[in-house]
Amino acid sequence: MLATIRAPGRLEGEVRLPGDKSISHRALMLGAVADGLARLRGLSPGADVGSTVGCLRALGVEVDGEVVVGRGMRGLREPAAPLDCGNSGTTMRLLAGLLAGQPFLSTLVGDDSLSRRPMDRVVDPLRQMGASAETSPLRVGGGRLRGIDYRVPVASAQVKSAVLLAGLFAEGLTTVREPAPSRDHTERMLRAMGAPVRGEGLTVCLSGPVGRLAPLDVDVPGDLSAAAFWLVAGALHGTGTVRLPGVGVNPGRTGALAVLERVGARVVRRGERLMGEEPVADLEVGPAEAVRAFEVRGGEVAALIDELPVLAVAAAVLPGVSRVTGAAELRVKETDRVAAMAAGLSAMGAQVQQLPDGWEIRGPRHLVGARVESFGDHRVAMALAIAGLLADGETVVEGAECVEISYPGFWDQLEALCSR
Ligand code: S3P
Repeated sequence: MLATIRAPGRLEGEVRLPGDKSISHRALMLGAVADGLARLRGLSPGADVGSTVGCLRALGVEVDGEVVVGRGMRGLREPAAPLDCGNSGTTMRLLAGLLAGQPFLSTLVGDDSLSRRPMDRVVDPLRQMGASAETSPLRVGGGRLRGIDYRVPVASAQVKSAVLLAGLFAEGLTTVREPAPSRDHTERMLRAMGAPVRGEGLTVCLSGPVGRLAPLDVDVPGDLSAAAFWLVAGALHGTGTVRLPGVGVNPGRTGALAVLERVGARVVRRGERLMGEEPVADLEVGPAEAVRAFEVRGGEVAALIDELPVLAVAAAVLPGVSRVTGAAELRVKETDRVAAMAAGLSAMGAQVQQLPDGWEIRGPRHLVGARVESFGDHRVAMALAIAGLLADGETVVEGAECVEISYPGFWDQLEALCSR
């Protein structure tokens, strides 16, 4: 599918965001092994979370709309066929952790993109814990697990979560140490369910095995990673105000808000509150006045990893040299996002130099509409759409349907914001 974007005269309105994808995956998986009924309101409607639901059903779990019938810690059933994780890295890596301690082996497969993504990062620690695990395809299970003290080489909430989920079934203490902070949705949710999780600084411990998890009753906040597209558009289009109610502002996710602040954007947080364990706020962004380039380095990357494509768009139109380093992880996402954004933005007239682990982007450039490629990556498609809102002329995004992965309704909402 092709999406055609033109810069609107005015960009204004309120956007209802999809439920947070990271929290949705976790709520479904943990709900599946809890005791009793989980009620999960506002789950992400995206295809990735649909993949998690499909896998859980194949493991014998009943999921009906917002209700998950928890089967208890020992209640998952051996799947009759390989579990299809689609395009979803979070599904594959977190499920691998949950399945490592099951008395059966599961095979986890995905689409072409997911089949190319590195899975040894979960296989290595799961094996150390005593699981039977191998890659290509990913096969995992059968383990009588023991806790380990694991130092994660690259900050990754997916790896941390996989080890913690396996730790639920392991004898003794499971410790995960990270080089930089990553999102802590798993820890918050486990704690709320009564699991003995303790965290301090960059270390988190779980004492297992855990016999029982209390059922969840959760309202999933709006997805900050989806909000980021509108925040950049609202700040840099230079016209109206964009309002985003009920957005998750977990500190492990708010790196993009900090960057936008440094850039000179006016992002206002209102009504900060807790939704269950997760901090939430209503966000509002208006046209930025004096703006400047930004720098992002390694330690900050995990807190804005999924927002970097749209921050690269911002960098193209900001005055000065913006530099992102320490983000080699971008090269092993749904596509190589460093290369994909460099290709798209360059086609639109931006001055982008790829680095092994990021970009150097020299602005301000006047972007010009062009035909650009999503490479089947939802975040690339949406970031280039935002570039289209800031460009002269017409931008055509090829492979636009991939937004369904995390943000069904994105194109309609874009149109609505532009037509006020
Ligand atoms: C996620 C963690 C991040 C992020 C992904 C979702 C999660 O991946 O890019 O979209 O839900 O834990 P890594 O942990 O691999 O960096």
